[in-house]
Amino acid sequence: MDVEVFLTYSSISDDDVQDRTVVVIDVLRACSTIATALHRGARAVMPVLDMEQAGKIASNLDPDMCRLGGERNGEKIDGYHLGNSPEEYTREVVEDRDIILNTTNGTRALEQAKGAEVLVAACFLNAGKVVDFLGREADAVTIVCAGQQNRLALEDTLCAGLLLDRLWDGTEPNSVTDSAHTAFTLYHTDSENMSRALRQANHAQWLAEQGYEDDLAYCFQVDTLPVLPYYTENRLLLYDDVPATG
Ligand code: MLT
Repeated sequence: MDVEVFLTYSSISDDDVQDRTVVVIDVLRACSTIATALHRGARAVMPVLDMEQAGKIASNLDPDMCRLGGERNGEKIDGYHLGNSPEEYTREVVEDRDIILNTTNGTRALEQAKGAEVLVAACFLNAGKVVDFLGREADAVTIVCAGQQNRLALEDTLCAGLLLDRLWDGTEPNSVTDSAHTAFTLYHTDSENMSRALRQANHAQWLAEQGYEDDLAYCFQVDTLPVLPYYTENRLLLYDDVPATG
């Protein structure tokens, strides 16, 4: 399998994603929120770039059947129904509704990668489901870590390393890219005490200071959600619900 890794999303171009299966990772917290919302029965999650795009989409939908969610500086956006804490996305709130999700890095990374042949969203919660899918369906994989404000985010890099570790059955192939080697090696270094490493990540510490400690405990669980958020027609659906083509 040909695997490339981008440690932040900001430098990726259409050429980097076209004809490839792209996995966008944003552990804290957009992809964890997306996986949770779909697991709890949301009809679709629509990732957007900004307020304007979110408002435009919302104005064309039945207000009872959609919910606006997202954050700026970690906090719920004024006038939105939901913030970016995955556990706000309860079955009662999301079931059979479309979620328009507007976040600082994660949903922008998804938007930037939408020229991919196949685009899926990953986090620790659904790592197993993502790896199964890649092992079965993909030859050329690009992992795009959302990162944080154009910088590497440790939790996303470690999640990329976990995916690589599983895809490669624990052994790095002879010829890999420098960024794939970095993610894999870091994962192996930190896997001795993963929980400590994740909690020391800059974004995790910042979220804890803002009072989102519970989100960390939730988002750092591995393999708890057997869902694959799959991008099609400007929205993420559960892969199992995507209509077959051809
Ligand atoms: C993002 O997309 O930047 C993150 O999900 C931010 C956050 O922690 O809410």
